[in-house]
Formats: sequence, structure tokens, C-alpha cells
Amino acid sequence: MRDAAPTTVFLSDYTPFGYLVDSVHLTFDLAPHATRVTSRIAFRPNPQARDRRFFLHGEGLTLIRAAIDGTAISPEITDAGLTADAPDAPFTWECEVEIDPGTNTALEGLYMSPLDVQGESQPDTSAMYCTQCEAEGFRKITYYPDRPDVMSIFTVRINGDLPVLLSNGNPVDRGEGWAEWHDPWPKPAYLFALVAGDLVAQSDSFTTVSGRSVELNLWVRPGDEHKCAFGMQALKKAMKWDEDTYGREYDLDVFNIVAVDDFNMGAMENKGLNVFNSSCVLASPDTSTDMNFERIEAIIAHEYFHNWTGNRITCRDWFQLCLKEGLTVFRDSQFTSDMRSAPVKRIHDVIELRARQFPEDTGPLSHPVRPESFQEINNFYTATVYEKGAEVIGMLKRLVGDAAYAEALDLYFARHDGQACTIEDWLKVFEDVTGRDLGQFKRWYSQSGTPRLSVEEAFDNGTYTLTFTQSTDPTPGQPDKAPQAIPIALGLLGPNGDEVLPTQVLEMTEVTQSFTFEGLAAHPVPSILRDFSAPVILDRAPQSAERAFLLAHDTDPFNRWEAGRDLARQCLIDMIAKGAEPDADYLDGIRAVLRDDRLDPAYRALMLGLPGQSQLAGFLHEAGVTPDPMAIWSAVERLKDAQAGALGDLLGELYNSAQVTGPYAPDAAQSGKRALAGAILDLTTRRDGGTQAAAQYAAADNMTLQLSALACLLRAGKGQDQLARFYDQWQADRLVIDKWFSLQIAEAAPKDAAQIARALTDHADFTWKTPNRFRAVFGALAGNHAGFHAASGAAYELLADWLIRLDPLNPQTTARMCSAFQTWRRYDADRRALIGAQLDRIAATSDLSRDTAEMITRIKGA
Ligand code: BES
Ligand code: ZN
Repeated sequence: MRDAAPTTVFLSDYTPFGYLVDSVHLTFDLAPHATRVTSRIAFRPNPQARDRRFFLHGEGLTLIRAAIDGTAISPEITDAGLTADAPDAPFTWECEVEIDPGTNTALEGLYMSPLDVQGESQPDTSAMYCTQCEAEGFRKITYYPDRPDVMSIFTVRINGDLPVLLSNGNPVDRGEGWAEWHDPWPKPAYLFALVAGDLVAQSDSFTTVSGRSVELNLWVRPGDEHKCAFGMQALKKAMKWDEDTYGREYDLDVFNIVAVDDFNMGAMENKGLNVFNSSCVLASPDTSTDMNFERIEAIIAHEYFHNWTGNRITCRDWFQLCLKEGLTVFRDSQFTSDMRSAPVKRIHDVIELRARQFPEDTGPLSHPVRPESFQEINNFYTATVYEKGAEVIGMLKRLVGDAAYAEALDLYFARHDGQACTIEDWLKVFEDVTGRDLGQFKRWYSQSGTPRLSVEEAFDNGTYTLTFTQSTDPTPGQPDKAPQAIPIALGLLGPNGDEVLPTQVLEMTEVTQSFTFEGLAAHPVPSILRDFSAPVILDRAPQSAERAFLLAHDTDPFNRWEAGRDLARQCLIDMIAKGAEPDADYLDGIRAVLRDDRLDPAYRALMLGLPGQSQLAGFLHEAGVTPDPMAIWSAVERLKDAQAGALGDLLGELYNSAQVTGPYAPDAAQSGKRALAGAILDLTTRRDGGTQAAAQYAAADNMTLQLSALACLLRAGKGQDQLARFYDQWQADRLVIDKWFSLQIAEAAPKDAAQIARALTDHADFTWKTPNRFRAVFGALAGNHAGFHAASGAAYELLADWLIRLDPLNPQTTARMCSAFQTWRRYDADRRALIGAQLDRIAATSDLSRDTAEMITRIKGA
């Protein structure tokens, strides 16, 4: 391991920095292997701090000179930074360092993209400079107190012979080979950004609510201009929505977005200069799927919304990450619900939560929404911090109501603008607005694990009683759990399906708690946890007849879908564990839903979905059954065949009704139809052997139809011709070639997946240093449940080989990919031994990064 004794940082150790920073002036002299960064920083003692030690973070920097108030000094330098004697009075720090962006493959700090020019003394002119500073990357650019509670005003001068030179804030001036930028808003260093390159912009403007005109630019490499229009529209919608919904106006003269091919994450909210993974902003109908469009709209909104929730109000320390990320995910979900269909968005979010957050929270990586310690903060940008963090805000809103939520947010912005805040500050505005004590609610931030909620019902003489009991299993470091405050949205249906009690929110605070409802004519059917009002596991085993009733009648669209999902899950579990046949109630129920053309096609498509195979493995494991990935796979195949059989006579009609006429638009209506057509085509392919899929492939004039047809063919063991043609057609398009890599692995038969992935790693286009390409292969392999867990262990070994290979170059992407192994203890002894051996092999690698070392240690567990 690189660090002999990895250091752990604790929330409880927080102390403010000894100095405040009044201003920062940075000058960059760009050169691929010898960029000079000169800083001039005005420090002044922080009256709130006692410790006056002057330590500046810095990693991988070559110090050229440093001076305090004009006097050269020789600071003490370590791997982590420098320490100097600084006056207990205001002073000016000046420093010059040299860095090497041309060999930076970690994609943190200042780097160059594309990476394939690396090592060359003069990268080609299409290479661009780009920065990524969150969370702790600024220290790879210059010496600085690289912590989010140190906020300052930045002025940046860039010298370089590239046509476009960008940084945060407003442009001050520019000339041949230089540009200067000034950001008037105090910000932490993690929001700093610089981009330089031969880029072209698609430009537009937005007039804010107070009448200011903002210049909008989306910067891309020449050749990508035709993929900008959708992102630009999404940005304008997001700007308008934040004004209308949260009263938040943009605060600079320009807003720049840059697309870059080499990026560890999806996108980054740098002040006034958002940087995007090109896969999360570039789109065109022929190269992007409906899902890509929806994701791009959401992520553009997300990064834009950070301007207030993250940038104007930032985090005191990285333990408070959910303060900005949970809230901003919540806001982007609200935005998508408003732009598209609220029930469909809610169902998508819950599917994601269960697929990514629940496994995290029930396994060795479980941690609170606000963690209390970490070794590497990059490992805590997790589904728990993000998605559960957003759920916690949704619960808060449900508990206090929409009006109080709006008032609390107004108070939050008014009270904390310009500050670096904590979860305590966030909850206090809600307490002040509502007079509530949120002490118990706060456990959602500190207690890890997914609560389980069990339910008992009683009916007597018109009085109906529901008794709920909550419990949370122990998680790493937290053996005992206290009861949580759980909002349970409930409705009651009468025997004929009418709603006899409209949705109300029950507030559960005890371990066991009863709620009674009087004056009911008959035993009602409860619809519990409507709209998924809390991120809990509802442990209830109603008869399949009751679920079928809810599937037919529930007035809450989420719970109606949930009833179908529960039926499907139970049916699959019975098929796997008891050799049962597909459940007729389930098949009848979805048939009725699919026939109901008053229902949104997108919603009907969701009704055909089945729980994921990894999730089924989780259910079996919880039920005390060791999951067999092949048995799960074949049960899912059989149930899909049964769906195809049960809907047989309707398939043609449904497919036709889901055809779109007129020009392609990635809106909710059209994409809902295409989602339904795709789901139907999957079933049809099981009956016609791929005739219709081949026809759809041949006729497709957009990527959604092309890819869904190709997926069906590959799943049926066909489509090799189309796959080859697909490559020829798209070989010049990096983002489409990522899909080509992914799809053939994702759709491979379990026995072939590892071999196909392995062969693809030999492909000339497997530019594995680029995270998108690496993830295209290994994300798909890890996502092919039965393929990944093939008994030979070939997939485990392949993934481990490549994690070991990538780690020295890009620790962050390597560490994130390790989570493919997080559920390993669910499986049988043979598989545990195979995975355990790979985990040991990774752990034993010399010079393993801190990122990967921490992940492997946690996954292996005690
Ligand atoms: N601030 C993050 C990006 C980030 C994460 C930078 C981790 C450095 C380390 C950004 O706002 C974000 O959350 N991006 C998400 C997408 C979003 C829609 C949830 C991402 O990149 O996946
Ligand atoms: Zn974010």
C-alpha cells in the first residue's frame, strides 16, 4: 500500500482553519509537461480559530519559490503539503509551482484529454486542458487550504496558445494567448475550474427573472456541434424552473458548460464553468437513446441547481456532502417529475434506490447518509449519500408539508448564503419554521442500514387497526439501532376498489405503533407506503389475491406498480426456491394493466419489468436461501417466456399502438411509447425468434429503436451481423462505441459473458484509460449477474486483473468499480472463495492506492 498507515479522518475532529482567505490570484502558464501555476493569496488570521498552524495542502507539486509578504521562505514540505511560519496578522502569500498535466491519468487536478497522447512531448492540438477539483483535487494544482470551509474570491489569468481559455466567473479581458477571469462570489477551491483548448461553442442566452441577460455556452470539440442543442434547451429549462420553483436566480453574466471525454464522474458544478463527461451532455437522436436524453436533462439540471445548493451555500467539511448532493438530487428529481411524468420518475428512482443503495446499506459498505469517518472521501460519493440523502429530504418535505418546506428553503437561502454549512444548520431552518423538534428525524443522517417495517392488521366492528413494527439490522460499527421517524403514506380501498380513505401521512416514531381508522363499512385493503414515502423495506406478505387487487385498483400509481412488482418477486422466489410455476394472478394482473390504454405507455412498460437478478439474489439471501445465479437467471427467463405467452394475442396490437409517427422527439410521450415498444419487442422475440426485432433494426432511424432491437437479437443468441454492422456504422463515434462494448457483454449468455468481455479487452478500441470505455466493459460485466457470477470465476479474475492494472493510473475509477464485489458474502462457499481470493490478490498489490485499499478492506470486512 502507498500509505503504510492510512489515516482516517473523523467528523468529530473538525476545527476551522487558522486563516481566512480574502482573495486568490492565480496565473497559469500552460505547457503539457511543465505548467507553471503562480498564486498570490491574501491571508488574515481567523478570529474563530485558535490553532494558527499554517499548513497548505499540496500533492505532486514541484515548488519553484514561495514568499510571505515579499520575503522568500523555505517551507517544510511533505507528501501532503507544506508548513510555514506565518504571521499572526494579515499577509500575502506568493508561490510558484510546476505541474505535469500531460501525464495526469488520475483525472484529478489539471489534466489533458484525450489521454492517448500521453507521454508525447507535444500532445496534438486537439488535446484540451481540463480540471477536476472536487473533492480534494485543487491541492494537485497549487498549495492551498484545500477544504470547503475556506471560501474566497478568485481571479485567474491563463496564458496559453489555445483558442479558448476558460475559468470561473465573468470574463475580465482577453488577448492573443491569454485571458483573465474574475469570480465575484466567494467559493471553496473545489469549485475552481480551468479549461483550455480548441473548442467550439453552441451559444444562446437566458434572461433572468430580474431582467439580466446571461450568455450561455456549451463548449465541445469540433465535430460535436450537432450534439449540443438538447443540452442547451435543458439548461434553459432548468434555469427557469429554479426561478419558478425555488426563487433562485443565476448570478453571473455567463454560464459555460464544457464536454470532455475523459472524466471520472458524470459532471461537475464548478462555479460558472460546469464540466461534463461528454456522455452526460452530448446527444443526438441517431446516437443517443431516450434514456440518455432523460439523463442528460437531469444532470444538466443537477449541476445547474448546485449553483445555489452547493456553491452559494456550500459544505463545512466533506462529511456534510449530503447537504449539497442529497438536496440537489432531490431538486433534480422534482425537476424531472415536473418536466415529464411524476409517477414514472418516482418508480425509476425507487428501482435505482433498491438496485444501488439497498445493497450498499445491507452489506459491508453500509454507512450513514452523513458518514462519521473516511480514509478517502472520493469513496463516499455513494448511493447512500446521494439517493438516500435525497429520500431523507423527501421525507422531511412530506412531514412538514409543501408550504413549510418552501418557507424553510427560503430561510435556508437567506440565512446561509455565502456560508459553508452543516446538516445541523439545514435541520435548524426546518425547526425554526415549523417549531418541530427534529432530534429523532436526525437519526436518518447518522444511523446506517435500511429499516424494515412489518405490519399487522385487525378489523373489528368498523374499526380498522394497523400496527407497524420497525427494526434495523446491525451494520458495520453500529450494532444497536434506535427507532427512526418514518412517514408512512397510507390509503385505504374498499372491497369494490373505491378509495375509502385518501392518502394521509402517518408519523411513526416508536418501535411498535398502532393507527386506527373508524367507521369503515367493510374490511379495507391497505395501500401502505404510497409513493414510497420512506426508504424502508416493507415486510408484509399479503396474499397474492390482495396484491392482485391493488394491482387492479390502487389509486396511487406508485403502489399500483409496486403491487405488480411484489407479485413478480414472490412468483420468482417461489419458482427459484420451490420449483413453482409462474403465478397466474400475476400474469392476469399485468395483462389487464397492459390492455388498459388509458394508462401511460411508459407506465405500462414499467409494469412488464421484473426485479433485477442481483436484487433477487438479495431477497433469497435474506430469506436464508443461498442464491444460485444460474437458477435465478433461468427463472427470470421462464417468467419472461410466460409473460410472452400470457400476452401472446396482444403483442402485435400493443407493438403497433406504441409506434411513433412524426419526427423523433426525446420527450416523455414519445419515449414512453418507445419504452413500451421495446418491452413488447423483448416478448415478441421470444415467440418469433427475432423476425420483428430484425425488422425494427433495419428500419430504425434513431438510436433508441436501433439499440433496443439489437439487444433483443443478442438476447436471443442472434444479431451477430447487426452487431458487426453497428460497429462499422458508428466506429467514429466514441459514445456509440461505448454502447457497442456494453451491449454485447450485458446481453451475453451467462456462460459467455466473461469470455466476450475478455476478448473485447483485446480490441483496438479498448482505450481503457478513459473511464467511459473501462466502465462500458466492466460495468456491463458486473451488471450481467449470472455472467459475472459464472461458476468458473473467470469474470471475477478478469475484473480483478483490470482493477490492478487501472489502479496506479486512475485510483478513483478503480475504487468505484470495486463495489461490484460488495455483495460477495451472499453467495455459496465456492464463489466466496473465488471472490475472496481476488480481493486478497488486489489487496496484496504493491503500491495500491488509498482509494482502492480502503474499498477492498471494507468489502472484505472484519
Ligand atoms: N459534485 C458532483 C461531481 C463529483 C462527484 C465530483 C465526486 C467529484 C467527486 C456532481 O454534482 C454530481 O453529483 N454528479 C453526479 C451526477 C448527478 C446527476 C447525481 C455524477 O457525476 O455522477
Ligand atoms: Zn451533485
